[in-house]
Amino acid sequence: MSPQAQSHFDPTRVPHLLGSFAPVTDEVDVVELSVVGRIPPSLDGLYVRNGPNPRFTPIGSYLYPIDGDGMLHGVWLSEGRARYRNRFVRTPGLVAEERAGRALWGGLESFILPGPDAVGPELANDFKDLPDINVVSHAGRLLALAESACPFRMGDGLETVGREDFGGALPVGITAHPKIDPVSGEMVVFCYMTEAPYLTWSVIDPTGAVPRKATPIEGVDEPMMIHDMALTKRFVILVLAPVFIDLEAAMSGGSFLSWRPERGTRVALIPRDGGKLRWASDEAFWLWHTVNAYDDGPDGDGEVVLEYVQWSRLTVGGDPASYSADPVRSNLVRARIDPATGSMVRTELDDSRVEFPRVDDRRIGRKHRLVALATEIGDVDLLPGEYNALRWYDTQTDTARIWHAGDLSVGEPVFAPEPGDHSDERGYWLTFATDRTDGTSWFLIIPAEDPTAGPVARVRIPVRVPLGLHGAWLPN
Ligand SMILES: [Fe+2]
Repeated sequence: MSPQAQSHFDPTRVPHLLGSFAPVTDEVDVVELSVVGRIPPSLDGLYVRNGPNPRFTPIGSYLYPIDGDGMLHGVWLSEGRARYRNRFVRTPGLVAEERAGRALWGGLESFILPGPDAVGPELANDFKDLPDINVVSHAGRLLALAESACPFRMGDGLETVGREDFGGALPVGITAHPKIDPVSGEMVVFCYMTEAPYLTWSVIDPTGAVPRKATPIEGVDEPMMIHDMALTKRFVILVLAPVFIDLEAAMSGGSFLSWRPERGTRVALIPRDGGKLRWASDEAFWLWHTVNAYDDGPDGDGEVVLEYVQWSRLTVGGDPASYSADPVRSNLVRARIDPATGSMVRTELDDSRVEFPRVDDRRIGRKHRLVALATEIGDVDLLPGEYNALRWYDTQTDTARIWHAGDLSVGEPVFAPEPGDHSDERGYWLTFATDRTDGTSWFLIIPAEDPTAGPVARVRIPVRVPLGLHGAWLPN
């Protein structure tokens, strides 16, 4: 965003601050939610979701989905009943803004940083924490996650405990999309940064200790943005799309993200045992989110299979002049990568416009069957990042099932398995939804066995839940 554009920044015209995306300011508790249908009594736990929700009207710029304060929305289910609570992730920057009664930091592309007179010496002239993207539970800690920065630890009541650096072992932070190995219980993370070594990976064990400290990834000699990762039994997988962080351009009024398709996209296969890094490369594509990955072959020592939602180009920030004229596409794609030769073959699995892919988390790093996605159907005027249907792609039959949500805009579907069942077909898909006609919000419980039938329960949330990003099901 140019300085001229900044001076004309008008938050009332930013689509992601309006309609179903408009932030809310109240923190509420509702103990008995009304339900249309029946909440399965076997669902006992917390569904929690994060998303950008600026506490005060943004100044300077607003770069969705990265900018904005984090807000957690929780729905606790027990014995067929539901309660709701939402809380801001109260970072030191947000606390300072609440004291001032207004935004003090500008959006990411405006470089408005308050000085010591406004916020004290510790926060002055630095960026604000933005733990607004994801929420996971690991080592008994509920973490609100930012884009490659320290997460914030949250309490059982969604109150903010403080910045989490894992006993000082990971002071620079971690990705917003860590992957937890369902067998070992390890949480594998990466972190990109604007200074050398630019990209590292680490392992946080089930106790919260860090047996692998930040390990530089060789062959990365400039700052890049990488949003998500994947894991197999053998490899950590990072997709390095040609999105470079250009601080010089940002300081002189340009965007800090630069899309350079001529550089192509590289995939790093990082052996989890510490072995030699392998690379594959192909023509440029961008991805926000992986679906999952696994090691193929009879002994799990063959090709690496990576599924992800492939975007034809960067879709945030950047210089629009560097975009091709083609409309942006986002499709479910499978890449087969030979670790021995570095060859990569990509196949489009489904031509629907999709995002927010999730599998049963118990399948992470192993072959999965179902991929749940948010999608768009019909001739409806939806904003970028807004979806009106859910889609389930079956990797065994190469078929898809769909549930059209009508006037509801739906978010990322998260799987809650039926307790005691180990297939990814028995359980429920959970998401928030907001009605575009009247702004009412709902928590939806959709049966995995027949998702096309729609929710078995629509739980009314008596306040609006803005469309957001990623969530988790945390069974008791
Ligand atoms: Fe994400």
